[in-house]
Amino acid sequence: MMLQTRYLGLNLNNPLVIASLPLAKDISSIRHMEDAGAAAVVLHSLFEEQILIEEKQLNENLLRGTESFAEALSYFPDISSFQLGPTAYLEHIKEVKRAVEIPVIASLNGISTGGWIEYAKKIEAAGADALELNIYFIPTNPAVMGDQVEQLYTVLVKDVTSSIKIPVAVKLSPFFSAAANMLKRIDQAGAKGLVLFNRFYQPDFDLDNLNVVPNLHLSHSGELTLRLRWAAILYGQLDCDLAITGGIHTAEDVIKSIMAGANATMMASAILKHGISHIQSVLSDMKEWMKKRDYNSIEDIRGLLSMKNIAEPTAYVRSNYMKVLGSYL
Ligand SMILES: Cc1cc2nc3c(=O)[nH]c(=O)nc-3n(C[C@H](O)[C@H](O)[C@H](O)COP(=O)(O)O)c2cc1C
Repeated sequence: MMLQTRYLGLNLNNPLVIASLPLAKDISSIRHMEDAGAAAVVLHSLFEEQILIEEKQLNENLLRGTESFAEALSYFPDISSFQLGPTAYLEHIKEVKRAVEIPVIASLNGISTGGWIEYAKKIEAAGADALELNIYFIPTNPAVMGDQVEQLYTVLVKDVTSSIKIPVAVKLSPFFSAAANMLKRIDQAGAKGLVLFNRFYQPDFDLDNLNVVPNLHLSHSGELTLRLRWAAILYGQLDCDLAITGGIHTAEDVIKSIMAGANATMMASAILKHGISHIQSVLSDMKEWMKKRDYNSIEDIRGLLSMKNIAEPTAYVRSNYMKVLGSYL
């Protein structure tokens, strides 16, 4: 059974990658994940805010004027909860590279272009095999127009991809008025991969204390369908690779993602729920599933259910909406 795949120009033993998670702060956990069969690891993110705060501590003056970006630094959580500051993050990349053989993908998380992007170069110099750029932006200002937001994405991607040679994947939201066009533009801006999609962590209300509180629920397989649809629509229309994150829990979830057209899948919640050994079960279930149906390799199934390859591509568009509504008895 050939589970090998290629993602961002990297050879992966199989399509199951560890999504960006705090678990990756611990070298021995990464070793266990590699032993369990994980094909690559995305490190937890280094946040733009962390870099700015470190710079602020170095020189208060450097920060003058930049407080205007959307979410004030004052709301940023206690920085110590992120443990690894920018300098330690670079050291961590070097240590992980020494500890494991699987590809190591670093993660930068930010929304604005600026000095902090220099960290992409430092991440490359530290030995990361690739960089995942997570753009998690919530445009709350009614004066900000859609094309300004789109510009923000493309400029940031261009700035990062033009400053380093290692491949850059972009992890982002599906919520654009013309998502296919936006994703194409990010592809054209130099991204070698798209990671579909960020989950949105909606804050909840604490009625006793009249507070807005952070609210993180782990995912479930039901969240996959949004990603499947977009991977299936995009497959064959972009130059860059596709990875799916959000709802990868079982072997079936991985197989569906590949059939939609993904090169790789990324798992986070299922590992937190079931432990690192879950990786092994998913891979062995995958092999069993493929063997039963006489599929010999990932290439045999990639894109099989994409819009390009299915007999009824309308399954992914508006007419399907009417069919779904009509199917409820
Ligand atoms: C506790 C936790 C921490 C996370 N930290 C990061 C992070 O630092 N950077 C990032 O890009 N994604 C982060 N994520 C998102 C995951 O990488 C992943 O994309 C998301 O959880 C969807 O995958 P899942 O359905 O397998 O959980 C985090 C998720 C969880 C649950």
